[in-house]
Amino acid sequence: MSGPTVLAFETSCDETGVAVVRGREVLSNVIGSQVDLHARFGGVVPEVAARAHVESIRSLSHRALGEAGVHPDDLDGVAATQGPGLIGPLLVGFSFGKAMAWARQLPFVGVDHMEGHLTAPVLESDFEPPAVALLASGGHSQLVHVKAWGDYEVLGETIDDAAGEAFDKLARYLGLGFPGGPAIDAASDGGDPTALDLPRPLRDRPLDFSFSGLKTAVITRIESAKQAGTLPPLADVAASIQEAIVDSLLEKAFNAIEATGVEVLGGGGGVFANRRLREKFADEADRRGVALHIPSRKLCTDNGAMIGAAGVRLLQDGQYSSWGSNVDVNMRLG
Ligand code: KG4
Ligand code: ZN
Repeated sequence: MSGPTVLAFETSCDETGVAVVRGREVLSNVIGSQVDLHARFGGVVPEVAARAHVESIRSLSHRALGEAGVHPDDLDGVAATQGPGLIGPLLVGFSFGKAMAWARQLPFVGVDHMEGHLTAPVLESDFEPPAVALLASGGHSQLVHVKAWGDYEVLGETIDDAAGEAFDKLARYLGLGFPGGPAIDAASDGGDPTALDLPRPLRDRPLDFSFSGLKTAVITRIESAKQAGTLPPLADVAASIQEAIVDSLLEKAFNAIEATGVEVLGGGGGVFANRRLREKFADEADRRGVALHIPSRKLCTDNGAMIGAAGVRLLQDGQYSSWGSNVDVNMRLG
């Protein structure tokens, strides 16, 4: 099964992602990471990110087309992330993509970044609605009822920090650097996830998340352990934090499965690259007989291919963006 061939751009934050997707097949997926550039600041600096996107987007586009073996004349459309994200970075990919589409008189589609994460599983499996999708990234933690493609209802979301933000803030507190999720994931190896007794908040709101209290709880536990001379090893601390975040995500995701009665669970966003999360979701889905669709790790973190996947669907539906369309930093699903 084939489909339209789309060149796709993702520049909502600090990764320059360019991909060529044909139908549900990834022909190329190149990423220019800016991690080293931002690490010394302990987080993403928007203007530094925008400049780095400008510097690399042209050569990454050539690379993506070259690796795919696709000539620009063979393209059926161009897709680019429209929002949500940082205004400067978004403008680079969106303007570049639109200009390229205009120059070649190709259809152009602006894609919601979260719809990109939500659609990513189709690139590797037969993921289809009706489904529940949990999206967990640096800026979002959302449970979405995917009734049909393009028909989304947000069932619940975080009332404060996103799951990735919690990983990032706690890693900073522990001196593990940026980005925090991969650092805590790595530091947790061999650690005891029950070493620190941490809260699993908001049990009375089954479909919403709260992660801001976790930081206070970690600091309180660590300070009192220090005073008592019982400070656990870093691996135990990292494993306990990871377990608390993963347990919350897991519990709420399966609450949504129960609430909707659907039997398909999709996942996406950088936090789904977490090894413990992947293991626990797989076990729970198995136990409950739920079909789980989580992309491979490199398709969980920001990338162009997921924007291509959503772009293909929008193009097939004839949902083009106008030449006058612009980025929307507060874009929302549903
Ligand atoms: O989707 P994403 O790449 O960018 C946004 O849309 O925000 O997600 C980035 C987030 C960061 O907070 C990062 O720390 C987290 O995903 N992350 C992880 C892992 N890899 C990335 N969190 C936990 N474990 C990981 N292995
Ligand atoms: Zn993302």
